[in-house]
Amino acid sequence: MLDRRIIHGENLEVLRDLPGQRFRLIYIDPPFNTGRTQESARLKVVQDEAGDRLGFGGRRYRSEEGEKRAYRDHFDDYASFLEPRLLEARRLLPEDGSLFLHVDPRESHYVKILLDEIFGRVSFMNEIVWSYDYGGRPKRRWPSKHDVIFWYAKDPENYVFEYDAIDRIPYMAPSLVGAEKAARGKTPTDVWWNTIVPTTSKERTGYPTQKPLSVLERIVCVHSVPGDTVLDFFAGSGTTGEAAAKHGRGFVLIDENVEAIEVMRVRLSAYSPALEVWPTARGG
Ligand SMILES: C[S@@+](CC[C@H](N)C(=O)[O-])C[C@H]1O[C@@H](n2cnc3c(N)ncnc32)[C@H](O)[C@@H]1O
Repeated sequence: MLDRRIIHGENLEVLRDLPGQRFRLIYIDPPFNTGRTQESARLKVVQDEAGDRLGFGGRRYRSEEGEKRAYRDHFDDYASFLEPRLLEARRLLPEDGSLFLHVDPRESHYVKILLDEIFGRVSFMNEIVWSYDYGGRPKRRWPSKHDVIFWYAKDPENYVFEYDAIDRIPYMAPSLVGAEKAARGKTPTDVWWNTIVPTTSKERTGYPTQKPLSVLERIVCVHSVPGDTVLDFFAGSGTTGEAAAKHGRGFVLIDENVEAIEVMRVRLSAYSPALEVWPTARGG
């Protein structure tokens, strides 16, 4: 029987108890702002004839507060939050397993460096750009309308890529490729055009950071096979779980927010009457 489980708890604690190599596919969409970023200042020495320090060639200097170290601190803080969880993720993947990490472009460069360190640069497979077209358009810069999804394969020579399961998309100029090809459509590139979850759609759960089901369906169908169990340990509204359930995969979904657990329970009961919802020592 397929594992179909929601776990309420702090993910690092839960992950440490899960058996190694259990999940062929892990998708995560961590919060972008961990709330831990602090600004700290570094002293900078500048030349000043009235300064209290004497330096080379008799020149005088004074100390002043240097530039804010927010960028470096931000990296350290975000990395120290993600790193132990990503190390667990790697442990939980079998040799042919893959990790998908969804991240905002303001954070993606930090996260890629960390993923390279943990998985190795050779394990980087794709940077998928999820491009949408919704919301306001500022007039003083290009409207920012994409997220980044990194794909890392534990072994870059041995991974699941179900080519025939890819949902094909229309050609931009079908008249140039002939009727047969136009009817078949083409495989998408690493830029995925997909609307956000429309406010009025049936798919909408009301959970603020809900991602589109079709994006998760593509990942689940191409990077796992029926019978596999998919893990999402920042599960939110359970989009990964719904994609897994729709396509014959099991799922383990972890979130520390009780509202997320309730949204997932309602959303996924329709697919899995035998759905298990686990409390943990801290989360229950
Ligand atoms: C961006 S949302 C995920 C949204 C999800 N992809 C969806 O489609 O609904 C991130 C989730 O991570 C959860 N979260 C943040 N830190 C966590 C932690 N340390 N342990 C477990 N869950 C955590 C939050 O409660 C939130 O629901």
